[in-house]
Amino acid sequence: MRTKVIDILRSTNYGAEVTVKGWVRTKRGSKSVNFIALNDGSTIHNVQIVADVDKFDEELLKKVTTGACLAVTGTLVESQGAGQAAEIQATDIVVYGTCDAEYPMQKKGQTFEFMRQHAHMRLRTNTFGAVFRIRHNMAMAIHQYFHERGFFYFHTPIITTSDCEGAGQMFQVTTKNLYDLKKDADGKIDYSDDFFGKTTSLTVSGQLEGELAATALGAIYTFGPTFRAENSNTPRHLAEFWMIEPEVAFNDINDNMDLAEDFIKYCVRWALDNCKDDLEFLNKMVDKTLLERLNFVVNNDFVRLSYTEGVEILEAAAKAGKKAFEFPVYWGVDLASEHERYLVEEHFQKPVILTDYPKEIKAFYMKQNEDGKTVRAMDVLFPQIGEIIGGSEREESYEKLTARINELGIPMKDMWWYLDTRRFGTCPHSGFGLGFERLILFVTGMQNIRDVIPFPRTPKSAEF
Ligand code: 4AD
Ligand code: MG
Repeated sequence: MRTKVIDILRSTNYGAEVTVKGWVRTKRGSKSVNFIALNDGSTIHNVQIVADVDKFDEELLKKVTTGACLAVTGTLVESQGAGQAAEIQATDIVVYGTCDAEYPMQKKGQTFEFMRQHAHMRLRTNTFGAVFRIRHNMAMAIHQYFHERGFFYFHTPIITTSDCEGAGQMFQVTTKNLYDLKKDADGKIDYSDDFFGKTTSLTVSGQLEGELAATALGAIYTFGPTFRAENSNTPRHLAEFWMIEPEVAFNDINDNMDLAEDFIKYCVRWALDNCKDDLEFLNKMVDKTLLERLNFVVNNDFVRLSYTEGVEILEAAAKAGKKAFEFPVYWGVDLASEHERYLVEEHFQKPVILTDYPKEIKAFYMKQNEDGKTVRAMDVLFPQIGEIIGGSEREESYEKLTARINELGIPMKDMWWYLDTRRFGTCPHSGFGLGFERLILFVTGMQNIRDVIPFPRTPKSAEF
């Protein structure tokens, strides 16, 4: 029977016969003995295999190279070397798969750029093993958090007809023959004979359907893939990313902020409690301030202030020559990442929640404030990341919402079902969206969002 490396390393059952299976990380040795570091993905740590050269066929040991896949049977012994508890004195080695010198992950210290080009093999490295074990843990933390608090996991459609964020960044879905498009008299494409009989796209957010559920089940969350055809080639944008969107009936913007802060702290604490080995590795190899930053976020209150106050701080910093921003900052501007990071990293040195943004730079569904200029939006801004969460209290008034929809020229016929929530028993409610990969960026200390999703989709790139 096979034992996982993680269990071998915890075991003190010395003298027992065990079998491990995995991939060779390194082999070193002398004329008389080979030391093989074997990893099976269950932990960042390798188990050391000790193979006496005179007990094995020379040809077999030659096949044991970096990247090769083995099954090893032997005796569990207390390790002589420092650091590890147990190692295996091999009695039998089976080579499942040899691995030649062209194995792209053979050399240590490859750049992340190189590894991205070999994303199918990078999973076998220490760094990506750690990142994806943490990614799994964060997904578990999220479900646990909401489940414990009585939220229902609600599945929203991937294929939709509505542009939730109204930003026109949707990927169209069609089965039409693009070489032979039927057009009407005005030259417009006729979608009545398309698969769904109308234009459809991949969703940018599950929020609108999430609101339907929250105003029935009380508190729900979505957790699924979302798609944005925004041509932003940055270390923080993907064309396909995962989003978590809680939506809660009767929550106002303050409840929403409390939920966001508590939720994100829970996830970070989960990582600190459950991903110790992987975080220690990343802290050593990728980002020396990672653990410090994670502990800091868990132990400090987030700063809350309005967009207007935030802009005042930024304007003052620019005016005093404290900071030279690439993009100008003024009331009404959609803050750039450099602005957000100045507030978080330099001014407050804490995570920040900005509220009450100008309505022009926010989506149609946000609750309008009395001032007629701002909406009850909230963005959570994080060190290194910038915006990690975006959310709001929702406009519950049918009249105000339809007025805003008309103002923006959003086709009403597509929104009838959404508006019905406001017609039939409307209620105050709030929610937000957490970008899953932005959370993983923060928790792992990785610098590029392409390195925290297994197979990234970005402009001009959809390999694997
Ligand atoms: O701020 P956004 O666009 O908000 C919404 O989609 C709302 N419907 C959420 C809600 O209220 N239910 O996106 C939410 C979060 C952002 O804060 C960011 O973390 C992430 O999603 N995000 C992206 N992550 C990776 N790549 C992109 N292109 C992203 N766009 C947004
Ligand atoms: Mg946003």
